[in-house]
Amino acid sequence: MGAEREPRHVLGVLVSGGGSNFRAIDEAIREDRIPNARIGALITDNPTAGAIKLAAERDIPAFILSNMSNQDRNAAIVDIFRDKGVVMGIGAGYLKLVGGEVINSCPLGVLNIHPAPLPRFGGKGMHGLNVHKAVIDSGVRWSGPTVHLMDEAFDRGQILAHRPVPVQRGDTPKKLAARILPVEHALYPQVIAQQLAIGPHPELVELPSSILP
Ligand code: GRF
Repeated sequence: MGAEREPRHVLGVLVSGGGSNFRAIDEAIREDRIPNARIGALITDNPTAGAIKLAAERDIPAFILSNMSNQDRNAAIVDIFRDKGVVMGIGAGYLKLVGGEVINSCPLGVLNIHPAPLPRFGGKGMHGLNVHKAVIDSGVRWSGPTVHLMDEAFDRGQILAHRPVPVQRGDTPKKLAARILPVEHALYPQVIAQQLAIGPHPELVELPSSILP
């Protein structure tokens, strides 16, 4: 009696930069907005990533995988995820491509967040302020973050959620990014919680025979 149970859902978070989404996910877990979860590993390819400090404060094991080929990095990630019992990977500003072996090592897949609508404003090189510049240059009225399942190409996997954020007259890439980031921080934990609740196999749905081949 009285012994606290270890949270069941172990997450492995991948970052390359600022780490504000990592912080938002950590906060959401502590506030029980992502129930029954904990971060079992922080992975980064960037030794100066801001998230490393927060991980140390939270006793989250951090792994710096720099100066290696992407193939070796992905193999190392699989080993770490297996060792820590990670069930879901979370890309949070991770700039490297995760391989199929990483995705397959996570029973619930690897999620990613992108700060603009996909697929239109995604793909190789579409990160940081480049994304917001492309949105503004295109003249669209709406941007906003998109959460999707990673596959082996940049920003291409199944879309799980999107929150529209208006592009305002006079927006610069920096202004737009700053308005979208807090929306990311609210959206990502919700989608992570939803995916954990759904589990690896959504309930089978009976399809009407009229749409079957
Ligand atoms: C976010 O805008 C996210 O959508 C994109 O990279 C940025 C990461 O920001 N994939 P941070 O490191 O979480 O602050």
